[in-house]
Amino acid sequence: MLQTVPAAAPPLAPAAAPLLSVSDLHAAYGQSEVLHGIDLSVAPGEIVALMGRNGMGKSTFMKTLMGIVPARAGRIRVGETDVTALKTYRRVAAGLAYVPQGRMIFSAMTVQENIETGLTVTGASKVPGDLYEMFPVLLEMKGRRGGNLSGGQQQQLAIARALASRPQVLLLDEPTEGIQPSIIREMGRTLKRIRDERGLSIVVSEQVLSFALDIADRVLVIENGSIVHEDARADIDEAKVARFLSV
Ligand SMILES: Nc1ncnc2c1ncn2[C@@H]1O[C@H](COP(=O)(O)OP(=O)(O)O)[C@@H](O)[C@H]1O
Ligand SMILES: [Mg+2]
Repeated sequence: MLQTVPAAAPPLAPAAAPLLSVSDLHAAYGQSEVLHGIDLSVAPGEIVALMGRNGMGKSTFMKTLMGIVPARAGRIRVGETDVTALKTYRRVAAGLAYVPQGRMIFSAMTVQENIETGLTVTGASKVPGDLYEMFPVLLEMKGRRGGNLSGGQQQQLAIARALASRPQVLLLDEPTEGIQPSIIREMGRTLKRIRDERGLSIVVSEQVLSFALDIADRVLVIENGSIVHEDARADIDEAKVARFLSV
């Protein structure tokens, strides 16, 4: 007689294909390897915080994703596109955008001109109104020089410039550095709103744990160029992450 086979567990809903996938990424300055095989997949709409102390490789990771530092080995994909060997502007066209550490806005250019530098890959010549809707203070100040803005306003400008290329994946390198706590909380709200309204994925490097906990769906810790710890936000081991961040 045939035995009844227990019903198989219903298949899990397939996870959405990652928007950003990085595998076994290595990078070096000259002979000195700084990234030793980073793996990271980021789902659409996911916010990932990459935490680590100074000198651990956060900025190098971001720069390698953007093609500012070449990958020595490994692979970087944005959606279906392998961008590992592409020039920076082609990575931007493929959907990556980057807010560098220290913001790097153009001090002598106006707010509007700064944002316009982000439009190059879209073919648009005017700043889309929805960017000014997202950052009303930039509309108010669009004729002012970037160098005359406060730190928090410059950070908004740097984010607006990055969003001007209509990215699928936004990279932010230590956006809270040198910013007041009240403005940091506002930035957290803005980043979540950008994710919710545009459905893009965000990778943010950070040393401020409270900010990461506020916005991230997942927290990774980088130490000496390797990922040494990873937690989903729901079950984050705060004490352990804090220990990695303390000197
Ligand atoms: N342009 C460079 N040339 C040589 N070494 C560098 C350069 N930039 C960074 N490094 C080194 O690479 C390591 C990682 O630095 P970085 O990625 O800036 O770390 P983080 O952003 O986490 O502070 C450090 O040891 C740093 O000294
Ligand atoms: Mg850095």
